Amino acid sequence: MERVISGIRPTGNLHLGNYFGAVKSFVKMQDEYDCMFFIADWHSLTTHPTPEDIKKSVKTILSEYLACGIDPEKAPIYVQSDVKQVLELYLYLNMNAYLGELERVTSFKEKVRKQPDNVNAGLLTYPCLMAADILVHKADKVPVGKDQEQNMEMARLFARRFNRIYRVEYFKEPASFHFADKAVKVPGLDGTGKMGKSEGNCLYLCDDEKTVTKKIMRAVTDQGPTQLNQEKPEVIQNLFTLCELLSGKEAADYYNDLYNNMQIRYGDMKKQMAADANALLAPIRERILAYSSDDALLDRIMRQGAEKAAARAEKTIEEVREIIGFRKI
Ligand code: ADP
Ligand code: TRP
Repeated sequence: MERVISGIRPTGNLHLGNYFGAVKSFVKMQDEYDCMFFIADWHSLTTHPTPEDIKKSVKTILSEYLACGIDPEKAPIYVQSDVKQVLELYLYLNMNAYLGELERVTSFKEKVRKQPDNVNAGLLTYPCLMAADILVHKADKVPVGKDQEQNMEMARLFARRFNRIYRVEYFKEPASFHFADKAVKVPGLDGTGKMGKSEGNCLYLCDDEKTVTKKIMRAVTDQGPTQLNQEKPEVIQNLFTLCELLSGKEAADYYNDLYNNMQIRYGDMKKQMAADANALLAPIRERILAYSSDDALLDRIMRQGAEKAAARAEKTIEEVREIIGFRKI
C-alpha cells in the first residue's frame, strides 16, 4: 500500500480552512493508504523559539485531529520531537543542501521579512527538516496545501541528490497530493483572501455555538446587487464559496438565484450558514472537549504513534548510515 505522511505545526487551534483544506482529506485517506500524521513541533521553533506551552498546544491539535475522525488504529499520529531518527536524517540532508538554494525559497524570504530579528538557521533549513520528515518514512504521497509546493520540490531535489551523491537508487521522490483537482481554498470571514490563523478571520473548530453564529452574522457583505445577474464582487463570491462548503451546493444555488433576481437577503443566507456550521461543528466540538480532558488516552496515542514511527524511521537510518559508510550501531 502506498505510504502517506503529513504534518501540521502546533501554532493554534484548527480552523475551517485547515478542516476543509487538509484534515477532512486525511480522514478519507486513512482508509485508502498507509497513513501517518504528525505534529511538527520542531518546525514551530523556527518562528516561536520559546513556545508558551508547547505540550498544551500539541495536545490541543491532537484532540482536534482525533475529533475530526482520524483514527490512530488506522493512521498513527505522533509528535515530531518524539522521533529522534528524523534528526539524524536532517543532519545528513543539511550536509548536501546549499546556502543559495535555501535562501531562494519563497517562504524563507517571507519569514525574513516577517521576523528580521530572528533569521535563524532553522528557518533556513526548514525544507531539510521537512524533507527528513517525509524521506525517513519513504512516503509516496504527501497531502499538502498549495503553499507547501516549493518545500515539496526541495524534498524531491534532496532525494535525487542523495541518490546521485552516494550512487544509489535509495530514496523515491515523494509526490505532492492535492485532494481535489482544484485545491480548496477556504475564504476568510472578512471577505478577502483565505481563512488563516494569522488573519483573524477564522471559524475555529472549537468555537462555541454563539461565537460561530456571531462570526458568521458579522461576515463582511455589501449593500446587495443593484442589477439583475450582476457579477459578484470578491467579498460576496467568498460568502457563496463558504455557503457551498457549509450548506451544500443546493443551498448555494438557491441563494445564487435570489442574488441574480436582486432578492437576496444576506441575513437569511447567513442564518442558514450559521445553522449548518453549528450542525457540522457541534459533534466535533463535543469530541474535542472529551479528548482534551483525557490526558491518559492522549498520552497513549502519542506513545503508540511514536513507537510505530520510530520503528519505521530506524530502519531507514540504519540503511542510510550504511550507504554513507558509518558504523552499524
Ligand atoms: P494557517 O494558514 O492558518 O497558518 P497552516 O499553514 O498551518 O494554516 O495550514 C495547515 C494546513 O491547512 C495546510 O495543509 C494548509 O494548506 C491548510 N489550510 C490552511 N488554511 C487554509 C484555507 N484557508 N483553505 C484551504 N486550506 C487551508
Ligand atoms: N511545512 C508544513 C506546513 O507548514 C508542515 C510540515 C512539516 C509538513 N513537515 C511536514 C507537511 C512534512 C507535510 C510533510 O503546513
